[in-house]
Amino acid sequence: MLNSPHDPKAIAGRAAADLVPDGAVVGLGTGSTVHFTLLRLAERMRSEGLRILGVPTSLDTERKARELAIPLTTLDEIESIEVTIDGADEIDPAFDMVKGGGGALLREKVVAWITKREIVVVGPNKLVPRLGASYPLPVEVVPFARSVVLHGLRRLGAEPVLRARDGVAARTDNGNEIIDARFPEGIADARGLEHAIDQIPGVVETGLFLGLAHVLVVGHADGRVEVRQRPG
Ligand code: A5P
Repeated sequence: MLNSPHDPKAIAGRAAADLVPDGAVVGLGTGSTVHFTLLRLAERMRSEGLRILGVPTSLDTERKARELAIPLTTLDEIESIEVTIDGADEIDPAFDMVKGGGGALLREKVVAWITKREIVVVGPNKLVPRLGASYPLPVEVVPFARSVVLHGLRRLGAEPVLRARDGVAARTDNGNEIIDARFPEGIADARGLEHAIDQIPGVVETGLFLGLAHVLVVGHADGRVEVRQRPG
């Protein structure tokens, strides 16, 4: 009998949910991998009586969590978050990441910033030797400044494109827009680039998540799950 293939996203998302301790405040990331984390957290609440308070990083995750009866809190009610589980678009060997493919980078970064243990859930396709080589860098911008930021990003060597849906600029949960900046050679100096982009007026946040991830959970199609700690 042939083994049925496993979905790496489901393997990673569910395995990370099993690392959440009882009583924790939990940052709830955004995306199709975290979707499986939410399902597993709800399962654990029913089967084990797991008690958590979630902090959603997007309106989409907030809606899903409410449908699953996961209790929620807000950043106004807490000072820190014990553990956050979130996806990534790219993650390099030092656990630096590009995020924001789903447009939730700003809230994801705010939540990651106050998180003690950021767990990143991915399939093996997200592991890259160098950031930016396979995925554009999302940059959240104030709509008024979009042209200024497009020019500024071109000066930094990017090929930037305003993200659109049905011919109209896509809006984030915060009412801003996203510019996807492709770097044809990849990103050689992520810290330098983040600093340079932050200098452009009108930039709200970049999708570079540097030094924020602590644990990486990789799901594999053969059903294996790898849990790695950040090197160093
Ligand atoms: C949301 O804006 C992103 O940062 C997601 O975390 C990232 O795109 C991963 O999404 P998937 O798990 O759907 O690949």
